[in-house]
Amino acid sequence: MSSFQSYRVNFRKSGQTIVVEEWFTINLAARKLGIDLPTDCCHGICGTCEVLTEQQGLVRACMTLVNEDLDVDG
Ligand code: FES
Repeated sequence: MSSFQSYRVNFRKSGQTIVVEEWFTINLAARKLGIDLPTDCCHGICGTCEVLTEQQGLVRACMTLVNEDLDVDG
């Protein structure tokens, strides 16, 4: 049994929603749904993966953990 919290991520462009544990990044949550968000460095440096979220504003999807319910414009 997992001791991690789980949160919902809604990807508005595709209309898909997934519930993932808090150690998932937004990018990993997207991949699990088959959504291919643009990425390059995957280390939070280049900014290629920036997405707008309702809750946290503009974030880097490759580094941002799903630590609350999120609505993503991606
Ligand atoms: S892919 Fe480069 S900052 Fe996320």
